[in-house]
Amino acid sequence: MSIEIITETKYEDMREIKVGIIGCGGIANGKHMPALKRLPNVKMVAFCDIIPERAEAARRDYGTPDAVVYTDYRDLLKIPDIEVVHVLTPNKSHAEISIAALEAGKHVMCEKPMAASSAEAHAMVEAARRTGKKLTIGYQTRSTTAYQFARKFIAGGGIGEVYYAKAPAVRRRGVPLWGVFLDKEQQGGGPMIDIGTHSIDACLYLMNNYDVASVTGVTFRKLPEIARFSNEWGIINPDEFEVEDAAMGFVKFKNGAALYVEASWLLNIESGGHLTLCGTLGGIEMRGDTVRVNGEKDGALFTQDIRPNSTSRDHFKGENLTPEQYEAKQWIYSVINDLPPLVKPEEACVVSDIIESIYKSAETGKTIYFD
Ligand SMILES: NC(=O)c1ccc[n+]([C@@H]2O[C@H](COP(=O)([O-])OP(=O)(O)OC[C@H]3O[C@@H](n4cnc5c(N)ncnc54)[C@H](O)[C@@H]3O)[C@@H](O)[C@H]2O)c1
Repeated sequence: MSIEIITETKYEDMREIKVGIIGCGGIANGKHMPALKRLPNVKMVAFCDIIPERAEAARRDYGTPDAVVYTDYRDLLKIPDIEVVHVLTPNKSHAEISIAALEAGKHVMCEKPMAASSAEAHAMVEAARRTGKKLTIGYQTRSTTAYQFARKFIAGGGIGEVYYAKAPAVRRRGVPLWGVFLDKEQQGGGPMIDIGTHSIDACLYLMNNYDVASVTGVTFRKLPEIARFSNEWGIINPDEFEVEDAAMGFVKFKNGAALYVEASWLLNIESGGHLTLCGTLGGIEMRGDTVRVNGEKDGALFTQDIRPNSTSRDHFKGENLTPEQYEAKQWIYSVINDLPPLVKPEEACVVSDIIESIYKSAETGKTIYFD
């Protein structure tokens, strides 16, 4: 097992990169634009949203003085000196826009999940290969110090052979009511594709295992009527709730390892949970910025909480970056230096394959076998 380690860099010497933003809603304002704005060599020169006021507000808050706004992403892709495009629209348009951007010669950062379907995700991987441009997906959990530390700890044999993992993404009452999250056509599904996707990606990253053998899944849509008024983000309209409210999946890998994933927006359960990996020499629980190791030494069981210092990461040593800032900086760094991005499209595509298989298995009542 090997992991690539990018060492310290003088980032501030990096050349200028012009970026275009497509989709100026929640995640653009909450993550991408503030993180990119911090990078001295990045210039956001174009903004696109089908709602023009959103593109205009983004231009005002984050753009260069001569930045332009569009309502059609194809116009933005025509600007020749834009090297990088961030695709921050609802899931259904990720593939169409990302493929068009790659074909226009741009490097693409697309939000998670990679796409609304597995076929679209594969088409994106293929487009990146065909065009030779970089494609990455916004799974920022990987950019936390704790996950970076845990990945190295596990790759170094710290818990032995990993053969079982649990990946929870559970909210008791947390249905997002903005945007199009309840629209099956636009999103491809409910909590499994929305938040389960983060847990699956983070888990595969720690296991460093993308060789799936089979997937079995169940989905439920039980509580939209019952939990209407207790939702954290407002009153639910059950008529608009086209997706599952909870889903579970059981993944078997070709080396015999197994992963249990559960995702919910509505479920009578305590919110939270810890991503857990069990190996032959010990186990790991991801508890926020703490990595808990369940080990055994000289016949005694021990529990050790490790809180890695955020300045101890491999990239940009000495800097105390949030995961969002780290994600953006590492991405731009990989573009400039022609290095693989932290989240490779082939890996994100496996996450989409697993999610679609959970949905397919739930629908058909059958286990889905890969290859
Ligand atoms: N990484 C994370 O933790 C995280 C968190 C939230 C959302 N997301 C992802 O980000 C994406 C967007 O979610 P959001 O919460 O920002 O939604 P949002 O509805 O707040 O924003 C999406 C924006 O895209 C615009 N848009 C839609 N179609 C477009 C098109 N064809 N061209 C240009 N603009 C278009 C909309 O008008 C809207 O302003 C989703 O895929 C979601 O899964 C990721």
